[in-house]
Amino acid sequence: DAGLLILGIETSCDETAAAVLKNGTELLSHVISSQITTHQKYGGVVPEIASREHLLHFQQVVEKAMAGAKVDYGDLAAIAVTYGPGLVGSLLVGVAGAKAIAYAAGVPLIGVNHLEAHIYANFLVHPHLVFPCLALLVSGGHTHLILLRGHGDYEVLGRTRDDAAGEALDKVARTLGLGYPGGPQVQKAAAAGNAAAFDFPRAMLEPGSLDFSFSGMKSAVLNALNTARMKGINLGVPDLAASFQQAVVDVLVRKTLLAVEQTGVTHVLLAGGVAANDLLRKTLTQELKEREGRLFFPPPHLCTDNGAMVASAGYHRYLARDFAPWTLNAVPGLNL
Ligand code: KG4
Ligand code: ZN
Repeated sequence: DAGLLILGIETSCDETAAAVLKNGTELLSHVISSQITTHQKYGGVVPEIASREHLLHFQQVVEKAMAGAKVDYGDLAAIAVTYGPGLVGSLLVGVAGAKAIAYAAGVPLIGVNHLEAHIYANFLVHPHLVFPCLALLVSGGHTHLILLRGHGDYEVLGRTRDDAAGEALDKVARTLGLGYPGGPQVQKAAAAGNAAAFDFPRAMLEPGSLDFSFSGMKSAVLNALNTARMKGINLGVPDLAASFQQAVVDVLVRKTLLAVEQTGVTHVLLAGGVAANDLLRKTLTQELKEREGRLFFPPPHLCTDNGAMVASAGYHRYLARDFAPWTLNAVPGLNL
């Protein structure tokens, strides 16, 4: 028995990725072609270049995932593909490619929401997660606190009103000359810095609100830098990085604990690229332990964009017989 095989395809931003998943948890292959070095010289992702790069690498990435899993297209139970949110040109490459393969091989197509896929990276490594649980989804484009009642049953409790956490980290990293993507660079620089060197503002918004705001914090870093430059003072990048990382993590942790308090739900999942951050993982693990709760997170390589998380979300959609029509289209502004 070959098991229930799902091919997951991801092209929503700057990674062309594919993975073959067996029975929901056994990863048979996992291929990522990253465009980071291509976009690095521009300090961020250039959409037009991203879609062209996806076109160049799509077929090779998918074939490598299939060959690595030693699986024929006809053996697949379904092909799951991210159809939003993301960059429209990038999404279209994945959606069109997945449709073509699924149609030719005679296997069903499943449309996956990228945000849901990030959350489902947790089910790859923690298959016995129980509902209800909370999810803190922190990526380059989104910062959401979500109540999960069951598979496919979500309530968004709070979201960012301006920048996403990852976006703020990326922008500050660029200003500090740390390069793209910013999150890992800030984490690296922060290791040699003092997190108490600068007291950046932690925007908590109205009492009880589970929304986020990171733009004020980001501006505070820029102001500190500009003021220091005018005075001819050289501020230490490690101290700035450490203090900024601390401020971002403080807000994420406080809001998550507020959600725990408000809902009484003590099991929390971390998801999205920023979930790879060590300080966030450690702080939230500790705080939840003190409240008899528990934090779950995927390994770092499954936090950032990948095909395995798409296959995981696709697996649960498959069990619910939730297939996509051949008219499936890219939806750049798709929400949960
Ligand atoms: O989920 P993701 O790969 O792509 C989106 O869907 O946006 O997230 C990318 C974001 C970037 O902003 C990147 O700087 C951030 O995740 N990131 C991190 C770390 N690794 C990636 N942020 C903080 N610490 C990290 N170790
Ligand atoms: Zn993502």
